[in-house]
Amino acid sequence: MDIHDEKIVVLDFGSQTTQLIARRIREQKVYCEIHPYNTPLDEIRAMNPKGVILSGGPCSVYDEDAPECDPALLDGSVPVLGICYGAQLITKLLGGAVEKAAKREFGKAVLEVQDTDGIFAGFEPGRSEYQVWMSHGDRIERLPEGFKVTGTSEHSPAAAVRHEEKPIIGVQFHPEVAHTLIGTDILRNFIFTICGCSPSWTMASFIESTVAAIREKVGTEKVICALSGGVDSSVTAALIHRAVGDQLTCIFVDNGLMRSGETESVLGFFRKKTGLKVISVDAEDFFLDRLAGVVDPEKKRKIIGHGFIEIFEREARKLGDVRFLGQGTLYPDVIESVSFRGMAVIKSHHNVGGLPEKMKLDLIEPLRDLFKDEVRQVGLELGLPEEAIFRQPFPGPGLGIRIIGEITRERLAIIRQADAIVLEEMKKSGHYRKVWQSFAVLLPIQTVGVMGDERTYEHVVALRSVDSVDAMTADWSRLPYDLLGRISNRIINEVRGVNRVVFDISSKPPSTIEWE
Ligand code: XMP
Repeated sequence: MDIHDEKIVVLDFGSQTTQLIARRIREQKVYCEIHPYNTPLDEIRAMNPKGVILSGGPCSVYDEDAPECDPALLDGSVPVLGICYGAQLITKLLGGAVEKAAKREFGKAVLEVQDTDGIFAGFEPGRSEYQVWMSHGDRIERLPEGFKVTGTSEHSPAAAVRHEEKPIIGVQFHPEVAHTLIGTDILRNFIFTICGCSPSWTMASFIESTVAAIREKVGTEKVICALSGGVDSSVTAALIHRAVGDQLTCIFVDNGLMRSGETESVLGFFRKKTGLKVISVDAEDFFLDRLAGVVDPEKKRKIIGHGFIEIFEREARKLGDVRFLGQGTLYPDVIESVSFRGMAVIKSHHNVGGLPEKMKLDLIEPLRDLFKDEVRQVGLELGLPEEAIFRQPFPGPGLGIRIIGEITRERLAIIRQADAIVLEEMKKSGHYRKVWQSFAVLLPIQTVGVMGDERTYEHVVALRSVDSVDAMTADWSRLPYDLLGRISNRIINEVRGVNRVVFDISSKPPSTIEWE
């Protein structure tokens, strides 16, 4: 069953803003998927899209290995909108010419609209100048046959073009970015008027169709799911639970590296409020024994990751015949793994990798098509508490990678207390939801201080707070000095064994968000 009857397909030619195109369209309640530029035409047709968007990209259409789609996509049977590189590619494939612009256009530009039809339908007749955002070196020089110019800018005589009869359109600027003030109007005209979509993709409709699809797939079989307390696993579990009730069992592994009060709050909510079956495993000794004396960050990550799988597998086997594993994979993970650009693996992330094959489990990934903000909306609609939905991300290896050096019970107690103070003060001041993540890190050094009349020689805690949209890049949060002061004072006064607090002012890259 395809739960997305009406969809727009974006072909990715490698632009930084490809994901943004999909998000803008989904904001209009129309479902949109991203696929690699070289997806075969019959596969695209089989998706039955209402329209196709060709994204921008870093290449020039005349580069030797310039990415191209099948020219037959442009036969007019499905509406196509080319953005920047996409527009240049349409031009080239249909026999026009693209050349290096005399001057690169980057940033804001003024568009003169010469058409109040097509993507510009409804534009004010008396007003022809609109702010758009450009980022290109090449430009369309000669139109393919049957095309006309519908908009110009100072450096792009063909800033917007369209075929006179067929629904094939190109724009040199980026309608998906916020600086293109008319971007939403253009995308709306494309998807609603030109493609004939209706605004029916809502989170309520998503839940309804996903629950039905899970029921159909699972039948009377059993499902297991790892619950961490994070948004993705919580929403995954809640969705599967709504679909198949008691056929779902969740496994919560307390690895002893959780934040203060974490285990109690996750279990309390799910057991008492939702009736979800949760097996919780106290594995603190198991993990801390294995981690004793280990200092290398990658070794720690591997021990924690492998240990988790071992315990999860053991518990799952006790349940007898389980057929499915629920997993909180999100859309950005899916795109990352198939898209134009690959990202190098910097740190080995902790997940249940390898488990499905080993245990011969089939995956259920109900969030595979969603962006993070959509997952949050689904969580709210399913009645999960706001506190869980708007929780900052917390890494799988937990506090284990926030204790630099060896993990001991004593050091865990220190970081747990310091971390709780950071979170409490961030929440009290209203900054918790403004930043991406904020936490404490325990350093493996001691420094000299003075308390009362006594010399002290104690631990240092680093405070890390970053702003980010997707964790791929991040900048340190400009927190108010008095908030920093309060956090530092409280940690030094309340946490035994700490006499110094420092604030991390590094951005990612070149640093990472976590210290290990
Ligand atoms: P870095 O430190 O690589 O972190 O800049 C990027 C984001 O990923 C989170 N993180 C993890 N999440 N398992 C996770 O589920 C992990 O092993 C892991 N390591 C880092 C980190 O908190 C940040 O949000």
